[in-house]
Amino acid sequence: MSVLRKIIHVVALLFVAYLMNSFALRSGIMKHPQMNKTIEQRVDSLLALMTLEEKIGQMTLFTSDWEMTGPTLRAEYKEDIRKGRVGAIFNAHTAAYTRELQRIAVEETRLKIPLIFGYDVIHGYKTIFPIPLGEAASWDLQAIEQAARIAAVEASAAGLHWTFAPMVDIARDPRWGRISEGAGEDSYLGSAIAAARVRGFQGNGFDNADAILACAKHYAAYGAAQAGRDYHTVDMSEQVLREVYLPPFKAARDAGAWTFMTAFNEWNGIPATANTRLIKDILKWEWGFPGFVVTDYTSINEMVLHGYAADDKHAAELSVNAGVDMDMQGAVYYHHLADLVKEGKVKVSRIDDAVRRILHLKFLLGLFDDPYRFCDEAREKRLIMAPEHQAAARDMARKSIVLLRNEKQTLPLSRQIKTLAVIGPLADSKQDMLGNWSASGDAKDCVTLLEGVRAKLPGQGRVLYEKGCDIENKSDRSGIAKALAVAKKADAIVVVVGEAGWMSGEAASRADIGLPGLQEELVKALVATQKPVVVVLMNGRPLAIPWVAENAPAILETWFAGTQGGHAIADVLFGDYNPSGKLPVTFPRSAGQIPLFYNAKNTGRPADPNNKYTSKYLDVPNSPQWPFGFGLSYTTFSYSDLQVDKKEFGYNDALTIRVKVTNTGAREGEETAQLYVRDLVGSVTRPVRELKGFQKVQLKPGESKVITFRLSADDLRFYNADLLFRAEPGEFDIWVGGDSNAALGTRVTLKH
Ligand code: NOJ
Repeated sequence: MSVLRKIIHVVALLFVAYLMNSFALRSGIMKHPQMNKTIEQRVDSLLALMTLEEKIGQMTLFTSDWEMTGPTLRAEYKEDIRKGRVGAIFNAHTAAYTRELQRIAVEETRLKIPLIFGYDVIHGYKTIFPIPLGEAASWDLQAIEQAARIAAVEASAAGLHWTFAPMVDIARDPRWGRISEGAGEDSYLGSAIAAARVRGFQGNGFDNADAILACAKHYAAYGAAQAGRDYHTVDMSEQVLREVYLPPFKAARDAGAWTFMTAFNEWNGIPATANTRLIKDILKWEWGFPGFVVTDYTSINEMVLHGYAADDKHAAELSVNAGVDMDMQGAVYYHHLADLVKEGKVKVSRIDDAVRRILHLKFLLGLFDDPYRFCDEAREKRLIMAPEHQAAARDMARKSIVLLRNEKQTLPLSRQIKTLAVIGPLADSKQDMLGNWSASGDAKDCVTLLEGVRAKLPGQGRVLYEKGCDIENKSDRSGIAKALAVAKKADAIVVVVGEAGWMSGEAASRADIGLPGLQEELVKALVATQKPVVVVLMNGRPLAIPWVAENAPAILETWFAGTQGGHAIADVLFGDYNPSGKLPVTFPRSAGQIPLFYNAKNTGRPADPNNKYTSKYLDVPNSPQWPFGFGLSYTTFSYSDLQVDKKEFGYNDALTIRVKVTNTGAREGEETAQLYVRDLVGSVTRPVRELKGFQKVQLKPGESKVITFRLSADDLRFYNADLLFRAEPGEFDIWVGGDSNAALGTRVTLKH
């Protein structure tokens, strides 16, 4: 045999070995290399001792009776722990309570397998950060990672091992209340934020007991619920699923997220909780996910009402065989899995695979070495609400605030102001500052906007307050007159309006996304005084508020800013912090435009005001009130000198794009420069713009900096009609600017 043939032979053998290995790994026949070897040996020896019932116990997650985050409760959960019939508990926290429950597991059960404790630590444990949509408006990955890190430090000190976060659902429909829990409408930004949050929660691993397992949820496409109604149907092509909804999940997986949660919705007729394509094929096979998959709260049982399973037992069979490892609160694995195994409908190897994944994480958390290592009361006392956590929460909140309008430099307010009127139903509300999913956050720890403003303007009588109206009540106008009386005595007015904290989050869809109750009437009355009026918005979703948007002199979007919210907002109002947030989601003019997102398709009849037969409305423009990526500053920025190092580039090359950003105003400020691309012709049509990069740049007045982006063919890939992820040669438009309407651009060509 010639040398060349020998080489070819060896290469071919190696390739076949590689394929076999990869098959064995993905099919679960062999363990994943990410799984720690010595842990694996320990898992195997434990597994060999377990009865079928004990294995099913590990696959069962029940809530404690401390909190309700869903419709049903099992009051007997302590008895279940004692019998080894539950492997994980959620909604139980604090070092003392988790210790109490852990003690039952490790002292009173046959195999002494420790419990995992999970909880919805979504934007902080006790120190509450802005709601995730608000954090996303910072476009600051480091700060977002840090917020998740602090959440993990506090949660782990309170006995928790596992958070049901990050929620990485892309959402293009602001009627859906859960838009508040994610990073908005864009897959590129959403992926970067998903990875940052996973890194923050899971830290440097579990050696220091200050990290918690992340859980990417809700897998998948939950954010595309029809009509924005929670839990509703999702029907979309696999192309759109892969291109828009899956990337943040893939990013979470690649960042090492150890768990995934299935979604309540169906996708193309099959509930996510038994969707083999999603769980087995894509997540476990294609992505080689080594962790475990948990259902959402009773989502297995709900497959009966979906019309997909005949009864709970059937649902259990469908779900476990689709690759779901743990049943949250449904008790269907608990009741039916043993019978299903005995009847041959579920293989023991599938059960073993699930249990192996779960036990692996219990070992990784160090719970077999010390089941109480997260239950340290001294640590809990020292770390929860630590001063440095408050400082980080205040900073994160400032970064999340978006300046939407600022006519005649109404903002910032002067500290020299004699009298300021603070008005509105949200101005002095501690509870609403927490937003939804506020874990162990305590309203009494929150700083309201009124308190924040008072801290800036000490001295008797400088800050006048009047509530004006309720958030929702539509009949009682008496407060408006009182508010006007107060406003007349003031030099400027800050009016704080929006939604109550509970109006977004789970089961909080709204059909009308305007200001509830009489709040718009209140704002109109105050604007009519002709005094400087600043509208401060607090809300968990984009609102459609065209009158306010066009008539209020200044508007600040503050979301629900968390424990330190009042101080953070006051920092921005008085210019101690120059606002730098950018919208992670489009704000429509009217709910009738929904879904409205920047990366839409062009259609064959793009809107033309001079042609009736084009794609538009008779009564509202197509354009949003505020576009994706938008946010003002107390200074101004300009973009110039966009240059590409070559006009044509190949598949193995990258383009270098340079652009000059200048601070053209009088204050130092931070700008987020955004890179957008359009693929002009595709074998399937492409969006009018897609975000492909962003960079933060801090500039002194008059200062310029040249920033650089790189763009390669890989960045231009999309799913074609055969679901192949490829970039196609041809022309691309590129823009760089401060929002998704960026005008400065050039055209380049990708060559074969
Ligand atoms: C239902 C929610 O959909 C999910 O996000 C949450 O983690 C669980 N309940 C647990 O509270």
